[in-house]
Amino acid sequence: MPEDKRIVSGEEVDETSLNEQSLRPQTLNDYIGQAKIKQEVAIYIQAAKQRQESLDHVLLYGPPGLGKTTLANIIANELGVGIKTTTGPAIERPGDLVAILNELEPGDVLFIDEIHRLPKNVEEILYSAMEDFYIDIVVGQDQAAHPVRFPLPPFTLIGATTRAGMLSSPLRARFGIVGHMQYYNNQELEAIVKRSAQVFHSKISADGALEIARRSRGTPRVANRLLKRVRDFADVYGKSAIDNEIVKYALELLQVDELGLDETDRKLLTTMIKLYGGGPVGLATLAANIGEETETVADMIEPYLMQKGLIKRTPRGRMATNLAYQHLHLENNK
Ligand SMILES: Nc1ncnc2c1ncn2[C@@H]1O[C@H](COP(=O)(O)OP(=O)(O)OP(=O)(O)O)[C@@H](O)[C@H]1O
Ligand SMILES: [Mg+2]
Repeated sequence: MPEDKRIVSGEEVDETSLNEQSLRPQTLNDYIGQAKIKQEVAIYIQAAKQRQESLDHVLLYGPPGLGKTTLANIIANELGVGIKTTTGPAIERPGDLVAILNELEPGDVLFIDEIHRLPKNVEEILYSAMEDFYIDIVVGQDQAAHPVRFPLPPFTLIGATTRAGMLSSPLRARFGIVGHMQYYNNQELEAIVKRSAQVFHSKISADGALEIARRSRGTPRVANRLLKRVRDFADVYGKSAIDNEIVKYALELLQVDELGLDETDRKLLTTMIKLYGGGPVGLATLAANIGEETETVADMIEPYLMQKGLIKRTPRGRMATNLAYQHLHLENNK
């Protein structure tokens, strides 16, 4: 499997290490940003606890690395219940789901990551499980085949997805609480960087933390990753604290620029401008030119460039904006 080597990618690489786990906030109070979701969830958690009921099912959606998995764990923690974690593609057959559901204690959270990738026949048995806490399964073969009903303990399903559009509408409709995760602003990311530095027992200056925040593409996972790399530089260069100077030095070497763009982003913009006169050019053509999958460009590269106003979508394809020319120090002769 090709490993994603892009330092500014929001995608998960390996987060099973102790180090990564310790970066995860454990309570809603420690979870920075996402104010709207946090506020709502806090109320629903309290209400469920007061009524001694299970929390309604929760769907969290948004780009990778914004804290969906972290929030799911916090919700279970705040509810004071257990959590079982799995992913859509890991549940291959209805029987796999039954086995997982069987292990739940009343009130527990079942967290299904990448829920848009659940097989259809598994998804269908999830409907009654979510709505009325039972499942019907056909057991036996041929003539002996007959449905058996399994009652389930009340539980909370938390589903996470980067692709809300790929969720079927019957499944979507069964989530009472839907949280749309937003990109983080610089202040929030700065707070996350400072908190993570504390976890690492590293000193960091306010301007150093803000500089990392600015280059993190609105994504905590990227912020933590940049912090780790910069911290290596600070340690090797014998710095007693991570300051603005070492941040700028390290990130320049890592080729992450002031806007948080890396080589791949800049290659895409340069291709658009130099090869296609700034566009319009189709996504697939662009992707082929820079040697990336179309899907990678659509999911991982384009959204951020669009958000930063460097490219825009037109009916005939993507176009580089004046800002893109300025950022690359190229002249726009159009
Ligand atoms: N609100 C937050 N406050 C502090 N740290 C955060 C926050 N959100 C995320 N993080 C940090 O960012 C990292 C990535 O978060 P997480 O794994 O929860 O993202 P995700 O949305 O589940 O990503 P994916 O879509 O790839 O599954 C976590 O290890 C955590 O340390
Ligand atoms: Mg996750």
